[in-house]
Amino acid sequence: MANKQFDVIVIGGGPGGYIAAIRAAQLGFNVACIDEWKNGKGGPAPGGTCTNVGCIPSKALLQSSEHYDQANHHFADHGIKVEGLGIDLAKMLARKDQVVKQNNDGILYLFKKNKISFFHGRGAFEKAGDAGYDIKVTGAAEETITGKHIIVATGSNARALPGAAFDEENILSNDGALRIGAVPKKLGLIGSGVIGLEMGSVWRRLGAEVTVLEALPTFLGAVDEQIAKEAKKAFDKQGLKIELGVKVGEIKSGKNGVSVAWTNAKGEAQTLEVDKLIVSIGRVPNTIGLNAEAVGLKLDERGAIAVDDDCKTSLPNVWAIGDVVRGPMLAHKAEEEGVAVAERIAGQHGHVNFNTVPWVIYTSPEIAWVGQTEQQLKASGRAYKAGTFPFLANGRARALGDTTGMVKFLADAATDEILGVHIVGPQASELISEAVVAMEFKASAEDIARICHAHPSLSEATKEAALAVDKRTLNF
Ligand code: FAD
Ligand code: NAI
Repeated sequence: MANKQFDVIVIGGGPGGYIAAIRAAQLGFNVACIDEWKNGKGGPAPGGTCTNVGCIPSKALLQSSEHYDQANHHFADHGIKVEGLGIDLAKMLARKDQVVKQNNDGILYLFKKNKISFFHGRGAFEKAGDAGYDIKVTGAAEETITGKHIIVATGSNARALPGAAFDEENILSNDGALRIGAVPKKLGLIGSGVIGLEMGSVWRRLGAEVTVLEALPTFLGAVDEQIAKEAKKAFDKQGLKIELGVKVGEIKSGKNGVSVAWTNAKGEAQTLEVDKLIVSIGRVPNTIGLNAEAVGLKLDERGAIAVDDDCKTSLPNVWAIGDVVRGPMLAHKAEEEGVAVAERIAGQHGHVNFNTVPWVIYTSPEIAWVGQTEQQLKASGRAYKAGTFPFLANGRARALGDTTGMVKFLADAATDEILGVHIVGPQASELISEAVVAMEFKASAEDIARICHAHPSLSEATKEAALAVDKRTLNF
C-alpha cells in the first residue's frame, strides 16, 4: 500500500511544532504532526516540554505556592486573618496536572479543528525520494508517511551533570522537580538560571530550606546588572540561599538523600546535604531517535540541527525550529519560528525578529526584559541614555502591597530609539509587552512618555521610566 502523502509533516508537537502545523494548515496545506509524549495513561499528550514539564506546570505551581506565601506572610498586612493555614500538596499537584491536561486536550482539539492528521508516536527519517521524505512512525501509531516538506521540532532535554544521572527520585530534572510528593526539608539546586530560580521559589515558598549552587561569579549574567542586583536583594530577603562562583564536585545519592561536595568562591571545601537535588544547568537539543543520519541532516557542534536565519537545514525542504536549533530556548521563540517557516513554505516572507524576543523569569518579583542590557551597550560602545522608575513611587504598586523593583529604559543617546527595557517587580511578565510593541515599531522613549496610561496602573511606571530617560519623571 502506498504511503500516506502530506504537503507538510511536523515532527514534534511542542509549542514550535503544533503551532507550525496549525499555521501550515491555515495556509491550505495537508499537514501531519507526529508527537511521542505520553500522559500517565499512555495516551497522547501533545504540547511538548512546555505543556507537560515546563512553562505550564511550573507556572501552575508558582501560582499555587505564591497564593500560599501571600496567605502566610502578606494577608495580615491587608487586615485579613487566616487560621489553620496548611498545604495539601497532593491537591496542589493534582491541580497542576489538570491544568496540563486541559492544555493537552486543547491542542488535540486544535488538530481536529484545523484538520491536521495527528500521529502518536516517534517520527524518524527513513529515506529521501522523489515524492519527498519518508518518515517512519513507531509507537501507538505505526506506519510510514511521506512529506514534501518536513519541519523538525523535537525540542530539548535537561542536561545532566557528569556522574549524577537523573533518577527523578533524589536527583531531579525539571520533570521530577515538578512532582516532588512531599515538601523536602532541605532542597539543593545546581544552577541559578531560570529553572533554578523558578523551582527554587516554588519549594521555598512551600517551606523547603533551599540552597542554590551557581558556577558563575555573577548572578543572572544575561540580565541587566542593575535589575539582577535588585532581584538578588529580594531573593536574599526571602531566604533563597544562592552561592555564586562555586565548583561542584562529587555527588552521592543514597537512602537519606543527596550529598554534594562543592568548593566556594574562596576555594574552601564544603558539603551540602539535602533531601532532594534539582540539577538545572541548561538543556541540550534533542535529536534522539530522529535518525538524522539516514538522510544526512547536519547537526552543529552543540548537537543542534544546523539552520540558517530562515530555519532552513542542510537538506532541501527540511526545516528545523525551536529548542532543537540555535537561539534562546523559549516557547514563544519556537512558536514564532513555526509560523515563519509555514509561511516560507507557502512562498510568503515570514520573519522572526530576534532583537525583540522578550524574556521573563516568573519569580517574585518577576524579572522581564527585551532588547539590550546596559552592559551590552557599554561593551558595544553605543551612546545611550538610561531612565529608571521605582515601583515604590507607583500608586497601584502601593495599593497591591508590592513595591519591589523598577522599570528601566535604555534609549539611543542621539535618536532616543528604545534599545532595551528591563523590569523587576510585580506583573513584569505582562508589562514587558508594551516595550516589545514599542521596539517592534522602533519607538522612541518619548513616544512612550507621551502615551496616556491608565491610572492607577503598574504601566504608569513604564511611562515614568520613559520620562526618566529625559530626566523629567512626574512622580519621583
Ligand atoms: P518541546 O516543547 O521540547 O517539544 C518537542 C516535542 O517533540 C516533545 O513533545 C517531544 O516528545 C517530541 N519529540 C521529540 N522527538 C520526537 C520524535 N522523533 N518523534 C516524535 N516526537 C518527538 N519557555 C518559555 O517561553 N516560558 C516559560 O515560562 C518556560 N518555562 C519553562 C520551564 C521549565 C521547567 C522548562 C524545562 C522549560 C521552560 N521553557 C519556558 C522553555 C520551553 O519549554 C521550551 O523553549 C519549549 O518547550 C520549546 O518548544 P519546542 O517545540 O522547540 O520543543
Ligand atoms: P539556564 O541556562 O537558564 O541556567 C543554567 C545555570 O546553570 C547558569 O547560570 C549556569 O552558569 C549554571 N551552571 C552550568 N553548569 C553548572 C555547574 N556545573 N555547576 C553550577 N552551575 C552551573 O538553564 P536552566 O535553568 O536549566 O533552564 C534551561 C532553559 O529553559 C532556560 O535557559 C530557558 O531557555 C528555558 N526556561 C525558560 C523559562 C522562562 O522563560 N521563564 C523558565 C525555565 C526554563
